[in-house]
Amino acid sequence: MHEIPAVNPLPLWELAHRYCEARAFHAASELDIFSKLDTERTSDEVANMIGLHHRPVRMLMDACVALGLLEKCGRKYRNTAVASEFLVKGKPFYSGNFVSLEAFSYQSWAKLPDAARENKPVARIMRDERHMKFFTHAMHSTSVFSATILAQAVDLSGHKRLLDIGGGSGVNAITVAEKYQNLRATVFDQGPVVEVAAEYIAKSLAAPRISTMAGDYLKGLPGGHDAALLSNILHGEGAEDNRALLKRVYDALEAPGMVIIADTLPNEERTGPVFPLLFALNELLYTEHGDTYTESDIKGFLAKAGFGRMNAISFEPAPLSVITALKGA
Ligand SMILES: C[S@@+](CC[C@H](N)C(=O)[O-])C[C@H]1O[C@@H](n2cnc3c(N)ncnc32)[C@H](O)[C@@H]1O
Repeated sequence: MHEIPAVNPLPLWELAHRYCEARAFHAASELDIFSKLDTERTSDEVANMIGLHHRPVRMLMDACVALGLLEKCGRKYRNTAVASEFLVKGKPFYSGNFVSLEAFSYQSWAKLPDAARENKPVARIMRDERHMKFFTHAMHSTSVFSATILAQAVDLSGHKRLLDIGGGSGVNAITVAEKYQNLRATVFDQGPVVEVAAEYIAKSLAAPRISTMAGDYLKGLPGGHDAALLSNILHGEGAEDNRALLKRVYDALEAPGMVIIADTLPNEERTGPVFPLLFALNELLYTEHGDTYTESDIKGFLAKAGFGRMNAISFEPAPLSVITALKGA
């Protein structure tokens, strides 16, 4: 008989199993259980509302209690504060479309060993117009939160025109344009994506000051802007493409001008936090050269492009860091 090891294997077993937590959450969100639970209800009542068998709904709801998404009192369940704020359809910070994207991504994560063996993407999210639109709504549902933080953190009061490069749904441009009422903005992205952006822009009070432009940021950028935002863009490209992209941004910006980078950044030693380090693997799955970059990496790209006066800000509640840099100041 072997001696009992001094270390306990339980953390490993729990880690191997952790995808089950994510899948239970994905399923509960996909079945829209949280939208029914801002009011206390039994699992049978929820099952009847969504037209499913009682047994699986009770099982999913119990799992969600253990995961901190629901509270249970007697036979009644209700949303915890976080589920109520972010998982109920129709609320301003509804993140369910992002949860759907993660559920979709689960298929690609199953192929992670293949991506690691080949050092090649195993899937493409933006493979056609339908997926581009799905992805854009999903990004919107998470960026609507980080955009609010970004708009508070970066002072755009001295700027007249913002270029939102790879702007997706336009949520960042919309949020800052709503805050700075003299600011005009252009959302620059691929054709099917700017169609979605136009729908979100139309619902904003700042709509008359926001336009869209279809294009490829790897080929060229429009002029006439004194601020440029790259939110969740650098991680999708390799270091060489990022240096070239930021040089293109530098050349396109009017002086004095500001570039704002918003992204998820690992620490300098690449030992944490967990989110940006796992996100690097996400980029291995979906891109040829994408990665997550440290603050020093990004400052290096910016300096090479010609930018100066860099300033970095990190935010605890969201996995988001912001680096600003200036041209001609
Ligand atoms: C991760 S999303 C970020 C969207 C938005 N900036 C945000 O933070 O929510 C990346 C965006 O870059 C766009 N994109 C990727 N490659 C592009 C290219 N070569 N030219 C223009 N846009 C591109 C994608 O269509 C997508 O909308």
